[in-house]
Amino acid sequence: METVILSTQQIDQAAQWLDEGKIVAFPTETVYGLGADATNPAAAKSVYQAKGRPSDNPLIVHVDGPQMVWQYANVAQKATAVKLMDKFWPGPLTIILPVKPHALSKTVTGGLDTVAFRMPANQTTLKLISTLGKPIVGPSANTSGKPSPTLAQHVYHDLKGKITAIIDDGPTKVGLESTVLDLTSSVPTILRPGAISQEQLTDVIGVVQSDHHQVQPGEIPKAPGMKYKHYAPQAQVIIVDQIQDFAPAISWIRQRQEPFAIMAEQQVLDQLDVTSAQATFSLGESLDSASHLLFAALRQFDLNPKIRYILAQGFSATGLGAAYMNRLNKSAGNVHFKSQEA
Ligand code: TXA
Ligand code: MG
Repeated sequence: METVILSTQQIDQAAQWLDEGKIVAFPTETVYGLGADATNPAAAKSVYQAKGRPSDNPLIVHVDGPQMVWQYANVAQKATAVKLMDKFWPGPLTIILPVKPHALSKTVTGGLDTVAFRMPANQTTLKLISTLGKPIVGPSANTSGKPSPTLAQHVYHDLKGKITAIIDDGPTKVGLESTVLDLTSSVPTILRPGAISQEQLTDVIGVVQSDHHQVQPGEIPKAPGMKYKHYAPQAQVIIVDQIQDFAPAISWIRQRQEPFAIMAEQQVLDQLDVTSAQATFSLGESLDSASHLLFAALRQFDLNPKIRYILAQGFSATGLGAAYMNRLNKSAGNVHFKSQEA
């Protein structure tokens, strides 16, 4: 199959293909998603196949507004959900609600009795869902295990020949996937941190907890996606938490004579002697730009098979930093540089 690149003007074509059960990748403000008609189990199934995703990992259902949610979700948590939707939708917040019996297929829910809903802040995709008149499933449009795509080219790299089309709307804004909030637990629980922070959620609905639980082998995790290896480039990522530790980290790696790369803010790169590095990637000038560029950096280094280690700048894990560090820790398998003096 040839994968067609569509412009944001070609929504009618994209909607027609989705209606025929085909897969079309779509832009959102977080990352690109792999779209299929959420009411068509065969189409949803082909999304798992294209991604190489385990079938027990449920899909997010993307809607064009709250009204579409209540066709499928049970109203048990409606008051809390409506407050959140009013405040944060469209935007990078996914809300897990109990599903109405038989409203959506097992393929979409992964066999759970809950479903994740999200209204993305992207005009093209909202129009696409409205034109289709049905919600679309949308896992991140990467091969399972790889960093999520923040450019249409990333999607093409992973999935060309496996999907019908990609709608190209340029780089995504946030760069990290949405905050996933479970409203079906006794206390609302963040299963995946994202750009909407715990503090922002607490301001609107009161107590919210974060699920920091490490999933053990054989255990069924709350967000099935959290148990799989993720965002992992071929090289070993080593997180450098303190900027002053970059210099000792570089000497340590030079002693081992291993080819390495560095990803850090521009002002950090400017201070370092990077001549011994195979490659560098500037994460811009702030945590915002670093979050926006994190996955692109990991993908860029993957194109150079020589690189064995990636020294990556850590940030304090608060606000957006919680989401950035969550993804970076996964890509590094929690490996951090420890200097001798520490
Ligand atoms: O920003 C995003 O959320 C992107 C864009 C495309 O919207 N989508 C995305 O989807 O990241 P995905 O499928 O790659 O990640 C969804 C996460 C997974 O960890 C999955 O296990 C979890 O949400 N999830 C989905 N439905 C769930 C449910 N009913 N209960 C618990 N976790 C759920
Ligand atoms: Mg994903």
